[in-house]
Amino acid sequence: MSERGQFTTRIGAIAATVGSAVGLGNIWRFPYETGQHGGAAFIAIYLLCVIIMGVPVIVAEFIVGRKTHKNVCGALRELAPGKKLHWFSGICIAASIMIISFYSVVCGWIVEYLTKAISGGLSSGSTEDYSTMFGAFVTNPYRSVLWTVLFLLANYLVLKRGLKKGIERVANVMMPMLFILLIVFCVNSLMQPGAGEGIKFLFSPDFSAITPRVAIGAMGQAFFSLSLGLSCLLTYSSYFKDSDSLVKNATTVAILDTLVAVLAGIMIFPVVFSYGMTPEQGPKLIFEVLPAIFQQMPGGYVLAVLFFFLLFMASITSTISMSEISIAYFSEELKMSRNQASMLNTGIAIVLGSLCALSFGVLSGFTIFGMTLFDLFDYVSSNLLLPFGGIFFSVFVGWILDRSVVEDELSNHGKLKVRVVKPLIFCLRYVAPVSIVIVFLYGLGIVDKVLQLM
Ligand code: PHE
Repeated sequence: MSERGQFTTRIGAIAATVGSAVGLGNIWRFPYETGQHGGAAFIAIYLLCVIIMGVPVIVAEFIVGRKTHKNVCGALRELAPGKKLHWFSGICIAASIMIISFYSVVCGWIVEYLTKAISGGLSSGSTEDYSTMFGAFVTNPYRSVLWTVLFLLANYLVLKRGLKKGIERVANVMMPMLFILLIVFCVNSLMQPGAGEGIKFLFSPDFSAITPRVAIGAMGQAFFSLSLGLSCLLTYSSYFKDSDSLVKNATTVAILDTLVAVLAGIMIFPVVFSYGMTPEQGPKLIFEVLPAIFQQMPGGYVLAVLFFFLLFMASITSTISMSEISIAYFSEELKMSRNQASMLNTGIAIVLGSLCALSFGVLSGFTIFGMTLFDLFDYVSSNLLLPFGGIFFSVFVGWILDRSVVEDELSNHGKLKVRVVKPLIFCLRYVAPVSIVIVFLYGLGIVDKVLQLM
């Protein structure tokens, strides 16, 4: 176990785990989902989901990882000997590779926009100009593949340096920087004329905008944003120290992740309203609308550079954590060196990521079940595999794992007083699996059918 390594400090462990959770899900997806789904009412439901299923499932993954100090496959084998549950690690690895493949395409766009911002290429033009620019870029077969590959190589350079010198060090530097930048952007946003309009949108709930579909969307968002269900948190917690409090670490991660999402909303909506744009722009918001707004602001050049740099930091700390799932598996189960494991992970991601990047151009006609490869990977992983993983972990820890193991891990073998054991187990046994089954059925389109009948 000692050669496997542990995070050096508790701060390092938290920084890395928050780095995994904070990503495009918070800064890109959360604001536009909120914009499209009625603002504050969506946020209220999102918070409820984080509390009743997010935190319990994080704790469940932490228990399995920290108890065994092993990768997902080894951990399940050790905790449920003879039950043959380690097939589930195949699902985790497949899901993590699918996510990294489509996610790194968007990361590639971010790096392209970062270089554009640095070279002054984002300093003039209207939203229409930026729409044309974005359309031309994503359909260009060379540029989007090139940036996806370069991003994955940067990801590799961190991974091959290992846990302490790579993952922990990058998180320790990038996470504080990310928070500082976010706050600078929030202050700037709140100083815009008419900023109050955006704040009102964000914080005064319109409960009439809530439909079952919106509620279920909020659950899915909570899952993706907290990196739940594919053993990412399990893998990181296998590097936690035995003295860390799992409940404290889980709540810290959930609070910081949610805080970043809300701050991202404060950074974006007042600006959007102040410049006369509408909040329902959807996924294109950060590539088409914000660049057009930045260049009308004083200091727009610097703002654009810092904005895309912030997105870069948020995304690379997430892709590192997705890769670590298979790297831990390759090195511990298949006995590869860290470098070999990182190369294998990067190689697979480069092939599949490039195909996903081409989904917007030359491969846009290549569809499976009516979806391009990019959409298919997104759909299968976010809507099906992650919720499935959430059910697996809550049932495994709530029903299969010995209650004494759960209590021992939560209390660090009796050293900590943990008052929430009972409610946690209740959520793991009943609340989380039932709510996740609903998300799952929604992912399969079954809820939609039922709603149509009603
Ligand atoms: N939580 C990350 C985000 O919000 C995405 C992610 C999903 C990371 C699954 C790791 C595992 O962007």
